[in-house]
Amino acid sequence: MKAFVCTEFGPADNCNVQEIDPRSPDKDQVLIEVKSASLNFPDALMIEGRYQVKPPLPFSPGMDLAGIVRQVGEGVTHVAAGDRVIAFSGVGAFAEMCLATKDKVVPMPADMSFEAAAAYGITYATAIHGFRECGRLQPHETVLVLGAAGGVGIAAIEVAKAMGARVIAAAATDDKLALCRKMGADMTINYSTEDLRARTMELTGGKGADVVFDPVGGDYTMNAFRATAWGGRLLVVGFAAGDIPKIPLNYALLSERAIVGVFWGAWAARDPEGQHRNMETMARWFAEGKINPVIDSTISLAQIPEAIKRLTSRQVKGKVVVRIGEN
Ligand SMILES: NC(=O)c1ccc[n+]([C@@H]2O[C@H](COP(=O)([O-])OP(=O)(O)OC[C@H]3O[C@@H](n4cnc5c(N)ncnc54)[C@H](OP(=O)(O)O)[C@@H]3O)[C@@H](O)[C@H]2O)c1
Repeated sequence: MKAFVCTEFGPADNCNVQEIDPRSPDKDQVLIEVKSASLNFPDALMIEGRYQVKPPLPFSPGMDLAGIVRQVGEGVTHVAAGDRVIAFSGVGAFAEMCLATKDKVVPMPADMSFEAAAAYGITYATAIHGFRECGRLQPHETVLVLGAAGGVGIAAIEVAKAMGARVIAAAATDDKLALCRKMGADMTINYSTEDLRARTMELTGGKGADVVFDPVGGDYTMNAFRATAWGGRLLVVGFAAGDIPKIPLNYALLSERAIVGVFWGAWAARDPEGQHRNMETMARWFAEGKINPVIDSTISLAQIPEAIKRLTSRQVKGKVVVRIGEN
């Protein structure tokens, strides 16, 4: 089978498409013919050896995918050969065949294309977990989403709206903010040209945002945290800007604000039932037209290095999808 393979940690340009042998599923594993896989920010970090997970070399990156079950190992009963599924494989999705453990394989929502299913996997699962279990978002609260036109950012807009919240989307260009409005954001802030904290306070009538969804980090985090309301929650999702911010805790004390980490992958492993519940909710929202992933571009395995450069230089809006089989 064809696979995008990294033989050493370093720039994605050092990886290439190779012919390798697929493996058979062991107990509790599912072998999936990959139709579409999604490019995630951590793929870039993993290829460079800068992610918290360092797979043994050589490896194929790719954390989530949509495809068709071809074989199941002993102990797998919830899916069968021929089923259309989404899988959170962790690695290996940038290949024609991929193995995933049974807990990480869920049926695809009916009427969803393989491309949309791949685009929706991790990003939407992270957003709903962030707001439900971590942020305890209430209907009619106000959410501030940073990096709002990125992969998890767009998901956060749609999920927060589906949960009944008002959404302020913050991003670096007017073009990105136009997309955020199209995806349901009620208000927008261009944090390249506007003061993030002052504008958030203004848009919330001086109260501040109830929940901040932050996949960006850097200086944005402090400005957003200081613009949260009494009892506000800062959801720490990621550090796409590179710098891990340090926050003086007096800002937490003064308005009884909370800083809450969001680590979807680790949580899903600890609470598979909760993860299952969240995926069911989102399948329902998809059927009701409340969520609809944005696909920036569809690429081939060989185009992954170029797409990673676009992703890490803030040029992608929504998700890049790697199309592998006939879709
Ligand atoms: N905690 C979890 O469970 C979890 C799950 C999934 C992803 N994540 C993390 O969430 C973060 C975002 O992931 P994503 O898939 O949404 O990525 P993405 O699509 O690339 O979006 C990230 C956004 O961050 C902003 N940004 C600001 N400075 C940046 C910089 N120097 N380089 C790149 N982007 C920058 C960009 O928006 P502007 O240009 O508008 O500023 C960009 O749209 C990553 O750190 C990822 O690891 C965490």
